[in-house]
Amino acid sequence: MNPTPPYPAAPGPIGVFDSGYGGLTILEQIRATLPGYDYLYLGDNARTPYGTRSFDVVYRYTLECVTHLFARGCHLVILACNTASAKALRTIQQHDLPRLDPARRVLGVIRPTVEAVGTLTRTRHIGLLATPGTVQSGSYPLEIQKLHEGIAVTSEACPMWVPLIENNEHRSPGADYFVRQHVEHLLAADPLIDTLILGCTHYPLLQPKIEPLLPAGVSIVPQGRIVALSLADYLRRHPEMDARCTRGGTCRYLTTEATDKFSASASIFLQKDVQAEHVRVGDVHS
Ligand code: DGL
Repeated sequence: MNPTPPYPAAPGPIGVFDSGYGGLTILEQIRATLPGYDYLYLGDNARTPYGTRSFDVVYRYTLECVTHLFARGCHLVILACNTASAKALRTIQQHDLPRLDPARRVLGVIRPTVEAVGTLTRTRHIGLLATPGTVQSGSYPLEIQKLHEGIAVTSEACPMWVPLIENNEHRSPGADYFVRQHVEHLLAADPLIDTLILGCTHYPLLQPKIEPLLPAGVSIVPQGRIVALSLADYLRRHPEMDARCTRGGTCRYLTTEATDKFSASASIFLQKDVQAEHVRVGDVHS
């Protein structure tokens, strides 16, 4: 697959990208909201996790995956990954799209989430649980200040959570320790928090362990549903892009890792069988 332009002009599937399996939680919500479209999911499983990597590495890996999806015919790509949205999206939108193909679009998950939280919090105190990369980027507090001045944001990086999930240990009793550690630390840092952003698309898998730790009145932002509704709204407002997205109701899965590994883990995430195709992206040769 040649990742350099020109890319196929014919309409194509909507691309959904994540460093690993987390984006599947977003994809499921998008498909439930917009079932008629075709989707192409790419998990960079060979290079996950992104959350502990530097800005430059996350940007390079994300750009490689986005251009791979463009080369496969996607005109619109959703970064279903908070880390990539925090560290790569703006540069790709401002620097790369104009030279690669100004008509293609890449959208992230942070902006729609931030737009929604303003009406969700009553105390105007928000908590963020996310990867170290997303927390260090400062993207959530910055975006929230821009849209909702005066809302306090307290952030907590959870470096162990993605590895627990990627290794299918998120239901194990061992995971309890790491979940409790970060949730309690965050709530102690700001007891007025009433709205909790799970700022990593993997984290909904830990929700059954997070929820019992929350005091009454603290609720979790439904990021997947918010992103799906925001995409539906985007397609309504951009008929020219809508016309470039095919409608066959299909979904295909690509992974930079071994396909049997992806299929086994993705099936656990989605509770159904999923067959993936192996792809080479950038310098990944696994
Ligand atoms: N799922 C990604 C996110 O939303 C990151 C996981 C990773 O560290 O690769 O942040």
